[in-house]
Amino acid sequence: MGVSTVTLESLAPDANGLLTILPLVLYTLMAVAWLWFSFPTLKGRQRAYFIVSFVTMTYVALAFMKSPYLYLMVLAISATFSFCTYVVDVPRRSASVLLAFLGFLLLLPSEVSHTLWVLWFMSVSLQNYFFYKRGVVKARGDLVKSTFFWGGIVLVNLLFIYPSLDKLSLSSFIISGGFASVLPFFLSVGLSPALEYLFNFLSSLTLLELSNLDHPLIKRLQVEAPGTFHHSLLLATLSEQASDDIHANGLLTRVGCLYHDIGKMKRPIYFIENQAYFGVSNPHDYLNPRMSKLIVTAHPIDGMKLGEEYKLPDAIQAFMPEHHGTLICGYFYAQALKEEGKGHVTKAQFRYSGPKPQTRETAIVMLADAAESAVRALNAPTPDQVDALLEVIFKQRIEDGQFDECPITMQEIWKIKKSFTKGLSAIHHQRVNYAEKISQVRQAGKPSSMGKGYIQPSV
Ligand SMILES: [Fe+2]
Ligand SMILES: [Fe+2]
Repeated sequence: MGVSTVTLESLAPDANGLLTILPLVLYTLMAVAWLWFSFPTLKGRQRAYFIVSFVTMTYVALAFMKSPYLYLMVLAISATFSFCTYVVDVPRRSASVLLAFLGFLLLLPSEVSHTLWVLWFMSVSLQNYFFYKRGVVKARGDLVKSTFFWGGIVLVNLLFIYPSLDKLSLSSFIISGGFASVLPFFLSVGLSPALEYLFNFLSSLTLLELSNLDHPLIKRLQVEAPGTFHHSLLLATLSEQASDDIHANGLLTRVGCLYHDIGKMKRPIYFIENQAYFGVSNPHDYLNPRMSKLIVTAHPIDGMKLGEEYKLPDAIQAFMPEHHGTLICGYFYAQALKEEGKGHVTKAQFRYSGPKPQTRETAIVMLADAAESAVRALNAPTPDQVDALLEVIFKQRIEDGQFDECPITMQEIWKIKKSFTKGLSAIHHQRVNYAEKISQVRQAGKPSSMGKGYIQPSV
């Protein structure tokens, strides 16, 4: 190729070898820095850095052992990680960088030119960037499709570097290609619980398990707070659609909705949606507004305690406090103002403790939660009325700074509003008053063609 090469031998611990390792160390630092900034809200990210460092160190140690098939191992690791980034919900940019980084490890000790290495880096990053879809696995079939997809990418990249691997026979090339394509499937399925624990990630498969309505917490919610259960189901449908519309993680949003109000199970009758079911009047009518505020704002904290008890992932628990952010309990604040007078009450005393939404998914649930209950209070609204009401709700939350810590754009917020208007108009559409129609027909003495008194229902 006419360009300098980096070989296994050059990694020997002499002066030249150290110079060769230096770029690797720098590259590791860059990758760690990238991960640091790519996962601002991920807890336990130190574990991810530990793994990256561990892989790097293992690699360097093996390089010193001068293993001729070292690249096969690194290729398998590379493919496994790439596949996992496909199954697990990792930001696309981070996945591209991680993948390219592992590709770099693959090529560094082999007799491959720097030009090829740069091409590899660009090729894998671009492929990952354009083909990667978040939260794509919703059934086992999707997992198999993903395997074929990544297998294809690995093979294409192998073909790309094959001419420069002159020590490799065609048969071992085919075997290693097949191995690197199929191995990720078994590894990622078998190791996914361990990987999720180590990286504190949440795979689509875990989300699917949590979305099962037979989950013990959901079962309890259904019995102990039935009104909240139905509210959560409605919210899940509404929010998942809006999430898909802005290309956020719809599955995560759906599951987050199912669990967002589980804390209400502790004192269900203090929440309006459960009072009719239990046949009780509103207990807040007999309480001091400050006491009511304390009871109502405790439900996110109670939810998180239950989440810990039932080992819900952190990403799901985040929906509990973030769907209320630092919003004001408006009704109780107004009551307190009335009872105690302006000088004695501050807005801060009637706010939820937060944090504000940190992700687009929790921001969607905050908006859906308010939109759903406000529209429910309207009597047979038209789409225009729904739209006008949502506009007020959305503006209030934006002006209150609830999305200041969340990577959501104004364009996305208005797309969410459009999606909610459609969804809520479909749920709460005007219904035909059949009793009225029957009496009109009878008065006019014109039975329908389908028989006396029969009214063709209009949808
Ligand atoms: Fe709530
Ligand atoms: Fe709610």
